[in-house]
Amino acid sequence: MCERLKDKSAFVTGAGQGIGRGIAEQLAAQGASLTIAEINEETGRSTADAFRQAGRDAIFAAVDIRSEHSIIAGIAAHLGRFGRLDILVNNAGANQHYDASKMSVDEWEASLSLNLRGAWLCCKHALPLMARQGSGVIINIASVHATMTAYNFFPYNVAKSGLLGLTRSLALDWGHKNIRAVAVSPGWVRTKPVLEHFAGADDPVAEIERVNNLHPLKRIGTPENVGALVAFLASDAASFITGTEIVIDGGISARHAD
Ligand SMILES: NC(=O)c1ccc[n+]([C@@H]2O[C@H](COP(=O)([O-])OP(=O)(O)OC[C@H]3O[C@@H](n4cnc5c(N)ncnc54)[C@H](O)[C@@H]3O)[C@@H](O)[C@H]2O)c1
Repeated sequence: MCERLKDKSAFVTGAGQGIGRGIAEQLAAQGASLTIAEINEETGRSTADAFRQAGRDAIFAAVDIRSEHSIIAGIAAHLGRFGRLDILVNNAGANQHYDASKMSVDEWEASLSLNLRGAWLCCKHALPLMARQGSGVIINIASVHATMTAYNFFPYNVAKSGLLGLTRSLALDWGHKNIRAVAVSPGWVRTKPVLEHFAGADDPVAEIERVNNLHPLKRIGTPENVGALVAFLASDAASFITGTEIVIDGGISARHAD
C-alpha cells in the first residue's frame, strides 16, 4: 500500500467522532501515527483503541481546546509518544446561533474560544516544535460559512472567517520555516449535529431531500470525503499549497440562491 504519511505524526482535535474521526482515519490509512485530542473521554479513548486494534499507532489525549494548559499537556503527551509533531489539524468546533443584539460577552468569549481561539492556541504550541524540526503542516477546519453565510449563524461564521485569517498569517509568517497552513471549508457533512438537524425537522425525509437537492451532486458529504482531502493536504504531494482555503461542499456554494 502507498502510505504518503509514513513516519509522520498528527495531532487532531475533536477526533472522537464526526469529521475529526474521518480525518484521523484517512491520516492513519496513509501511515500517520495519531493523537486523538478530544474533550469526550469515551469517544476519544474508543477511537484511539480502534486504531491500535487496526495496527495503527494512536494515543488518546484529554484535551479541551478552550484551555491552554490542557493543550500544552496534550501536545506534551504527543511529543512523549511520537517525538515530533508533523501535522496539526484544528477540527474541534461547534455551530452556535445567537442574536447579535442579545448575546452576552461571556457567550461571545465562550463561542470564539471554541471556534477560533482554540485553534490559535494549538498553533501557538505546535509552531515552535515544527520550526525546530524544519517542517510542519497546519490544517484548520473552517466552513463554507467562512466566506458566505446563512441567516442566524452568528457568531459561528465570524469565528470561521477568523480561521481563514489565521491560516493566511501562519502561512506568511512561518513559510520560511517550511511550515504550511491550509484552511479546509466543508459544506454539509453527515455528522451527529447534521443528523440531529434532520431528525429535528418537522418532516425529516423532506428536509433530507431538500438539503440533498441544494447540491449539484445531490448528496451531502461524508467525514471520509473531508478526511481524504486533509490527508492529501498534509502530504508532500501538496507541498506548494499554503495560505489558502480549499472548499469541499459538493458544489453548493457555486449555486446562487435564486
Ligand atoms: N458537519 C458539518 O456539516 C460541518 C460543516 C462545516 C464545518 N464543520 C466543522 O467541522 C468540525 C467538526 O464538526 P462535526 O460535524 O464533525 O462535529 P461533531 O460534533 O460531530 O464533532 C466535534 C468533536 O469535537 C469535540 N469537541 C467539542 N468541543 C471540544 C473542545 N472544547 N475540545 C476538544 N474537543 C472538542 C467533540 O467532543 C466531538 O468529538 C467543526 O469545526 C465544525 O464547525 C462541520
